[in-house]
Amino acid sequence: MLRRTLTIPIILLLCCKSGSSQQVYHEPYRPQIHFSPRTGWMNDPNGLVYYKKTYHLFFQYYPDSTVWGPMHWGHAISRDLVHWKQLAIALYPDNLGYIFSGSAVVDESNTSGLGSKGKTPVVAIFTQHDPVGEKNGTSFFQNQSIAYSLDAGKSWIKYDKNPVLKTPGLKDFRDPKVSWYADQKKWIMTLAAGDRILFYSSPDLKKWNKESEFGAGLGAHGGVWECPDLVPFTIDGKKIWLLIVNINPGGIQGGSGTQYFTGDFDGSHFTCTDTTTKWADYGPDNYAGITWSNTGNEKIFIGWMSNWLYGTRVPTAKWRSAMSIPRILGLRKIGQSYYTTMQPVNSLEKLVVKTKTYKQISSVDTTSISGTTRLEFTVDNLHAFSFVFSNGAGQYVVAGYNEEKNSFYIDRTHAGISEFDPHFAGIHYAPRIASSGRSKITMILDNSSLEIFADQGLTTMTEIFFPDQPFSILQAGVTRKPLEDIRVSQLKSIWP
Ligand code: FRU
Repeated sequence: MLRRTLTIPIILLLCCKSGSSQQVYHEPYRPQIHFSPRTGWMNDPNGLVYYKKTYHLFFQYYPDSTVWGPMHWGHAISRDLVHWKQLAIALYPDNLGYIFSGSAVVDESNTSGLGSKGKTPVVAIFTQHDPVGEKNGTSFFQNQSIAYSLDAGKSWIKYDKNPVLKTPGLKDFRDPKVSWYADQKKWIMTLAAGDRILFYSSPDLKKWNKESEFGAGLGAHGGVWECPDLVPFTIDGKKIWLLIVNINPGGIQGGSGTQYFTGDFDGSHFTCTDTTTKWADYGPDNYAGITWSNTGNEKIFIGWMSNWLYGTRVPTAKWRSAMSIPRILGLRKIGQSYYTTMQPVNSLEKLVVKTKTYKQISSVDTTSISGTTRLEFTVDNLHAFSFVFSNGAGQYVVAGYNEEKNSFYIDRTHAGISEFDPHFAGIHYAPRIASSGRSKITMILDNSSLEIFADQGLTTMTEIFFPDQPFSILQAGVTRKPLEDIRVSQLKSIWP
């Protein structure tokens, strides 16, 4: 049996009780271990680049409102992928349009010629979306531009001959993700174009040549393809390429979702060796996810923890939406197929204030939790289990494994405010991909989100919710057999 005293940090008590005097980063629903903008609207992660021991996180940002508008690139930095500092806006809209999603690379050998006096250029490649062209019904309003930084990402200069890649007349022509293809010493860009991904190459990030197209008729097509990423892995000595393709609507849980393909890439064509539709995350709230560039063999992924179905209407007051926990991205072979794995970055460990291990728990066992909570356990023979996170207002989220469906699930039907969208309240299932009995489960509960990493990240789920009070009670629900060695850790806030 487990029972432990409830210790809510004073700051949380203050902010939750007195609605008006809320401290920034401690307002109701504000994630305490996830990045969210101080104020204003945020969507996709952009320009993810690691340089000089700093992770840069740019993001689709509209500072003047809490709903989507003329897009800027907001900017935050971190040394450990856990603590973030928001900096000044990096890119503002201009006469070529809003600054839509894109990527950033370190141009180590100055292929672009944008470096000067021995200063390495960091180059951002992004879509400029011209709202006037769109309004006038043309098909020429999304073009690719670049900007560069000579002070390691702090300040940015737009290239004076933008755009560098004009649309051939495609209305959806956006979200360039660029990487260096060392074998042929050229840059490769993946670009989303409606129902397919286009591949371009460049010697200098300025001249772009079309190489190929991929995806018409393959995978999920219930919406528009957006935010692609091409990531190489080496498995058993063999190079396997992962192509991430975000889609909206048409995601696995409705609205936005992240599908992927695995196969070969020869510097020109991507060939898919497995045509089943696979999803990187089975929850409804992980979108536009891509990876950091310049991190060597370690691939780190982050997604926007929301969904276009209701993202603009979630009940936060001064800011809207957060990013997922940065995740180490892997690829694992199961049978003849390759599947992604995602695990929270190791530096999360730094936030652990205390961990309590429960030798054995079964239904009815209840404990108090305070603040952000991580739950971890391993079962030798996976069987039905569930955990209920609840508050004094009778609201709760249930997360567990359903044996009959062989699926993990999150139930947010009674998790608080949901009236803002009829699709919001619901139970979401994620099929188990692993086939062995043994299963390691990690769950991370923040003020308004739950992330599940099951089977060492082979199946992941991300969900947001808006309870009237933070969840403070953890109860083991149905457990066919008692669970053993459950580690419950309290994580401290990343915000001052
Ligand atoms: C994905 C997306 C991108 C676009 C950006 C605009 O969420 O629609 O395709 O570049 O958001 O904010």
